[in-house]
Amino acid sequence: MDALADKKALNWSELGFQYHKTDYRFSAVYENGAWGAGELVSSDLISVHEGAPSLHYAQQCFEGMKAQTTADGRVLLFRPDLNSERMNLAAVRTLMPEVPQAMFIDAVEQVVRANYAWIPPYGSGASLYIRPMLIGVGENLGLRPAKKFEFRVFASPVGPYFKGSGLSVISLAVSALDRAAPSGTGSFKVGANYAGGLLATRLAQQLGANEALYLDAREHRYIDEAGSANIIIAMKDGSLVTPRSNAILPSITRRSLMVLAKDQLKMPTAERPIDLRAEFDQFDEAAACGTAAVLSFVGKIWFDDAWHVIYKDGQSSGPVMQQLYDLLTGIQVGRLPDPYGWTHAVKI
Ligand code: PLP
Ligand code: COI
Repeated sequence: MDALADKKALNWSELGFQYHKTDYRFSAVYENGAWGAGELVSSDLISVHEGAPSLHYAQQCFEGMKAQTTADGRVLLFRPDLNSERMNLAAVRTLMPEVPQAMFIDAVEQVVRANYAWIPPYGSGASLYIRPMLIGVGENLGLRPAKKFEFRVFASPVGPYFKGSGLSVISLAVSALDRAAPSGTGSFKVGANYAGGLLATRLAQQLGANEALYLDAREHRYIDEAGSANIIIAMKDGSLVTPRSNAILPSITRRSLMVLAKDQLKMPTAERPIDLRAEFDQFDEAAACGTAAVLSFVGKIWFDDAWHVIYKDGQSSGPVMQQLYDLLTGIQVGRLPDPYGWTHAVKI
């Protein structure tokens, strides 16, 4: 692949969060106790046996990450080591083989490099979304793990996850449905969590919200997370808080934002249970954070049959979230120094 190939003729700044077929993806197979070397392939189709445990019993997991172009033309990943770690935690939880970190990062780099023409240019507001996935394939019927697995990495150029977002305000509706039980799979990025959430998201959207907000499944009292992102809250006392829960995905974006708030904004930070109804009056700013969501300001939350407003009319962001957004995205696209070594340049 010619590293200087022209970019595709896409209207980058108009992209939504949709699948675009790119030229190459990586595929490796695990069989007889070992991973094959894997290779780039061009077909976007996977041929799996009808008895595959990933299809019946959701024996699968996935990751989400982004590659971004810097002003001087470098291509950066953000903390890919943490995506690899998290995928392996899910693999262990669902009885799948771990993907060695070197193999994971090499596969992601190969896919980014091979799809160079699809990486949105600096300043477009778009990025190359990368979706590593690990699935149980091969014939099976009883409830037992697969003997064969595929590790695949594909990529698609994407724009903002929430329609009309970027810097605009989203709304969340508390779901009566639960996403994950306290000792279930909520903290692992497995597809089953998301299948169960499709209806919750639809019901939230029918109320006019962008996404569902889950409270803890035991008491329906403490904030867990949104359907596709974690939650952070700037409190009126000047602290930044985020839910402590073993039923939520350990967001890499959230972990990074908590560090930035503490180090750069000198805010007291805490990961603790957040009682939505008891503490709502103390919320100054709230946001949903994640790879796809980036940092989306939460303007209002639906609960107890009413909208509860955080951002007042006409406000499109608060100062804390705006600063965090600028710091995070500044590091991710190489506009700001990266004192933490979070970015990972892909050799093009
Ligand atoms: N929570 C859920 C349910 C998610 O799907 C995601 C997205 O990956 C996140 C949180 C955010 O995690 P991260 O910041 O690692 O992308
Ligand atoms: C991500 O942010 O990477 C995710 O996987 C969320 C998904 C619902 C798009």
